[in-house]
Amino acid sequence: MEQITLTRPDDWHIHLRDGAYLKRTVEDASRYFGRVLAMPNLFPPITSGSLADNYRKKILSYSRTGFEPLFALYLTEETTPHSVNETKENYDFVPAYKLYPSGVTTNSEFGIKSIENMYPVFDAIQENDLVLCIHGEVTNPEVDVYDRESYFIDKYLKKIVQTFPSMRIVLEHITTEEAVNFIKESNDKVAATITAHHLLYDRNKLLAGTLNPLYYCLPILKRNTHQKALIEAAISGNKSFFLGTDSAPHPRQEKEKICGCAAGCYTSHAGIELYAEVFDSQNAMSRLEGFSSHFGADFYRFPRNRDTITMERRDWIVDQKIDFGGDELTPIKAGETLNWKIESGENSTAREYQLE
Ligand code: DOR
Ligand code: ZN
Repeated sequence: MEQITLTRPDDWHIHLRDGAYLKRTVEDASRYFGRVLAMPNLFPPITSGSLADNYRKKILSYSRTGFEPLFALYLTEETTPHSVNETKENYDFVPAYKLYPSGVTTNSEFGIKSIENMYPVFDAIQENDLVLCIHGEVTNPEVDVYDRESYFIDKYLKKIVQTFPSMRIVLEHITTEEAVNFIKESNDKVAATITAHHLLYDRNKLLAGTLNPLYYCLPILKRNTHQKALIEAAISGNKSFFLGTDSAPHPRQEKEKICGCAAGCYTSHAGIELYAEVFDSQNAMSRLEGFSSHFGADFYRFPRNRDTITMERRDWIVDQKIDFGGDELTPIKAGETLNWKIESGENSTAREYQLE
């Protein structure tokens, strides 16, 4: 039987949500991932270390031992350099801030309207050696939805990188060849996460034949030349590209609305197995460990996980639907066959931690 053993992987971009949904998202993510970087776009958003601390306690109450949630705080126009200093001093589980241009995605209305006004805050992020995670898209109505990422890079990101040459930046969930090239040409302070769904699919999956809202996510899926560029980047062994699932659950009734389909794909049910499909299809399984388990930890300056997981080449069928806090959720690859399955290395189920 063909097997592969990897250093335990981390997920450097995930949406765990809150309330009734939190139990399922945390159970799924904590089975195999060592660390996750939890995104702060809750309602209301996680804007401070103390809010992250409360959220962390809730997450830990549902998670397995061996699982370590980390947080990116939501940057708002009220964030100050002083609050960045305080975060650095007091909250070691907060290695990053997340920049959402206002209106760009789910719960981003508290985000940033003028990026240049945030330069004093970027300066503090740089000084404190924290990471700036960026949803790199613009929202200008005149910019075509397919061009929003490359436009952001040209109009804003190049200048941010130039102005703050020592700040570590992660361009999140990249979707274009332009983003891949930008990262390749930048120094090692600038990196990118790549999702499983942007590696698995192009925009035909969303639009060709019939409109399928399951695949509606932001940034939107692009044409297959971009998908190919992402695959090449992921399997290249370049340390500036690493795993961030952007697993973003929305219940079925929100995805299948006639108008107002929620953006996001749920992949935590098979996080690492979905990436294995892609790497295997490229005969690049030997590159999976760097991408999934080494490069992200190195970039964020956390030690690589010391334990391992083992996957086996074995067919299994993804559940058609998932119970999601009383709602129904359709996961990516619902009802389809995957070729790789985790065989061993689940985190322990016992968690001593109790909510206060
Ligand atoms: O598809 C997405 N869903 N993209 C994002 O940027 C946010 C996410 C969500 O929170 O639902
Ligand atoms: Zn996200």
